[in-house]
Amino acid sequence: MAFDLKEIIAARLGENYELHHQHINRTLVAAQRVIGFDKVYARAEGAYLYDMDSQPYLDFLSGYSVFNIGRNHPVVKKAIRDVLDLDLPNMVQMDCSLLSGLLAEAITKRTPPHLDAIFFCNSGTEAIEGALKFARAATGRKRVVSLENAFHGLSLGSLSLMGCESFTEGFGPLMEGFDARVPIDDLDALDRQLRSRDVAAFVIETVQGKGCKSPKTDFFVRAQELCRKYGTLLISDEIQTGLGRTGKMFGFQHWNLEPDIITLAKTLSGGYVPCGAIVTRREIYQKTFSRMDRCVVHSTTFGRNNLAMACGVAALEVIDNENLVENAAKMGALLMEKVDLLRAKHSFIKEVRGKGLMIAIEFHEPKELKLKMAWKVLHKIDKVLFAQMVVTQMLSKHRILTQVAGHAMDVVKILPPLIIGEREVDMFVNAFDDVLTECRKFPGPMWEIGNNFVKAALGSKRPVPSGRPISA
Ligand SMILES: Cc1ncc(COP(=O)(O)O)c(C=O)c1O
Repeated sequence: MAFDLKEIIAARLGENYELHHQHINRTLVAAQRVIGFDKVYARAEGAYLYDMDSQPYLDFLSGYSVFNIGRNHPVVKKAIRDVLDLDLPNMVQMDCSLLSGLLAEAITKRTPPHLDAIFFCNSGTEAIEGALKFARAATGRKRVVSLENAFHGLSLGSLSLMGCESFTEGFGPLMEGFDARVPIDDLDALDRQLRSRDVAAFVIETVQGKGCKSPKTDFFVRAQELCRKYGTLLISDEIQTGLGRTGKMFGFQHWNLEPDIITLAKTLSGGYVPCGAIVTRREIYQKTFSRMDRCVVHSTTFGRNNLAMACGVAALEVIDNENLVENAAKMGALLMEKVDLLRAKHSFIKEVRGKGLMIAIEFHEPKELKLKMAWKVLHKIDKVLFAQMVVTQMLSKHRILTQVAGHAMDVVKILPPLIIGEREVDMFVNAFDDVLTECRKFPGPMWEIGNNFVKAALGSKRPVPSGRPISA
């Protein structure tokens, strides 16, 4: 019988979790079952996922910001079909392909003029790893400083930039010289690290994935001055904040920064083919590729493959043509304003923060006595439980996909695709209002959900399961 993928999918859709339990990550399967995330999605379009009964789910997670342009965008689909129809030569390696040149040109049209040299790779963490190598090669220095609560990916170099034990436990020793982390807004702490003049790079996320925090002061501007003073390169990790997510094309533009290196990935894939990029100054780039015999000293087999490059070019076109950066700024402001108004009604809400459509809603202990008790019981077990309870109910009752923002955080995070309109904003706000109203009933079905998490956690003697509660 001829191989027919459509037939296979039609016949076997629904076996997803069983297959994963058998062959892939069964711990993740178990966690998804506990939090009620074990849905089978059959189709996706724009801001919506559809299950096997064609029920729509509003996707306010966007594959951790992969789908800024929405899912299955027709322009990207056509670009992929065009590449296939043309039977282009792909990954010849010892040539210079047109599509990678075109994507490099398209990116540099959108970056400030000094960021004019590009290296392509396949993922976010790979872009960070490369950026760190470029920084070391350019400065001749070993150390790298990062921010507390950072997330930069999970391969060893990126992981070494993060202090978060829930990710590093069991994987040490980490990279030597990568262990200095400074709190956001603590310029003195940064100065103390940089003044030894042995720091190759200071790495930032302008809006942190874990909890959507940004400085409250002019920290980034002053940090850039310190970097220049001490000869340290400034790396802005734009893997999540880039390509319109924060209401500007790049996060660093909110502070008019001039980073020496930026990293991109996620949406550069068009939502189809993994693609990462390092964008830097030509003179920094050339310090790595410094001689003929070093022309491929940093490289990766799949790095400039045609499908990824075509997806990148198409995704950038869509972002511009559909004014998605402006829409992210507008819808983000509206969403934050409307959620903020709920604070008067629900004492659970502490703060709504973020930029554009990268938004965190942080909870704190409610004022009502009865609820205080329930809150305390849950928090004794795990700080993330209340937020997970809300996220679970948003999906089960309202079919809206969101996430908790990080380990031990009372934060729900939303990353809607940048194509949403007022309809989706209202859907989210009304659902969120309803879920928090339910939380005010104690005892009640919402706290029963929390109770089930507690039982699952105590049963496995592990922290309460949650989706991948990371910046991602
Ligand atoms: C800011 C940031 N940097 C790096 C990464 C790592 O990207 P990837 O998962 O593609 O390796 C992520 C992923 O969530 C991220 O949000």
